[in-house]
Amino acid sequence: TDNPLVLGIETSCDETGVGIVRGATLLSNTIASSMDEHARYGGVVPEVAARAHLEAMTPAITSALADAGVTLDEIDAIAVTSGPGLAGALMVGVGAAKALALAIEKPIYAVNHLVGHVGADVLRAPQQESDESSEVDGGRIQYPTIALLVSGGHTSLLLVRDLVSDVELLGETIDDAAGEAFDKVARLLGLPYPGGPEIDRAAVGGNPKAIRFPRGLSLPKDHDAHRYDFSFSGLKTAVARWVEKKQDAGEEVPLADVAASFREAVVDVLITKALAACAEYGVPRLLLGGGVVANARVREVAAVRAEAAGVALRIPPLSLCTDNGAMIAALGAQLIMAGHGPSGLGFGADSTLPV
Ligand code: KG4
Ligand code: ZN
Repeated sequence: TDNPLVLGIETSCDETGVGIVRGATLLSNTIASSMDEHARYGGVVPEVAARAHLEAMTPAITSALADAGVTLDEIDAIAVTSGPGLAGALMVGVGAAKALALAIEKPIYAVNHLVGHVGADVLRAPQQESDESSEVDGGRIQYPTIALLVSGGHTSLLLVRDLVSDVELLGETIDDAAGEAFDKVARLLGLPYPGGPEIDRAAVGGNPKAIRFPRGLSLPKDHDAHRYDFSFSGLKTAVARWVEKKQDAGEEVPLADVAASFREAVVDVLITKALAACAEYGVPRLLLGGGVVANARVREVAAVRAEAAGVALRIPPLSLCTDNGAMIAALGAQLIMAGHGPSGLGFGADSTLPV
């Protein structure tokens, strides 16, 4: 159980991810995305995603093995995302993982996608003795940590006391995910999918204070059980109304200001809540994950406010922030090293799997 060689499979959304780790060392991370196929629909189409996973799976496994320089019979265990995510997409990954585990007669570990995002933080590159900018030393994440996971599919705040045994969901979005809000607002502004990078670009030179868009659920009562939940659909509607009003009045829509002000509203709520959780639970560490972490303003505001709050900010490399198989393999390896037994072949895909 020392430094097991684990192959991880991730198919919860539109990325077919296959990654290989040895303990906490990253060996390979192959990603095939069906994002281009969803672009013309303005969002991920579950049926299209599932079909794309099926086509991408075998080539992704082959290339992950080649990149890692290992053969299938050397693999000690398989790890796979069993949820949460798109049911049909998850089923392809779970089916492939089970088939692989049966074929090589090795144990299989079903893991939670959100906890996998946190697991990404234990990984280090081979030959990398120590990373100056990182508190992670030899693949040992420090606990407790608050994790803010923001992507097109989820917006979740977690309190992680231990990666393999104690992860608590503090809050999540009650409607749109943060990335979904970027995608929808980009669409109503006439920008292509995916919207996050487009809004980032459009916001350059814009005034984030030009328009005061609503910060959803930003003022909950102290002991409200849902105080760490998020809501972005009201913000999306507010942007739509504001733009319509301008257009109805025959005025030009100031794209840079709208983009910058919208982005500011999202970022403000995300970082305010994450740091409020750090303060309430006395946790001096904040980990970011998910595709929205690519956002320039998210990184900027997180860095400034975390420093002011005395909170150590951790952001894994972007290739490990977006959905990938290496983070799933990493979590599987952590489970094995902590002495957890495998899942057996009875589990299924669970689109609403709790942490
Ligand atoms: O984690 P991810 O790659 O995958 C899934 O959600 O499946 O995240 C993709 C999401 C999309 O909604 C995209 O618009 C958003 O992340 N995103 C961004 C940026 N880059 C990607 N959102 C804001 N700013 C960005 N620069
Ligand atoms: Zn994700």
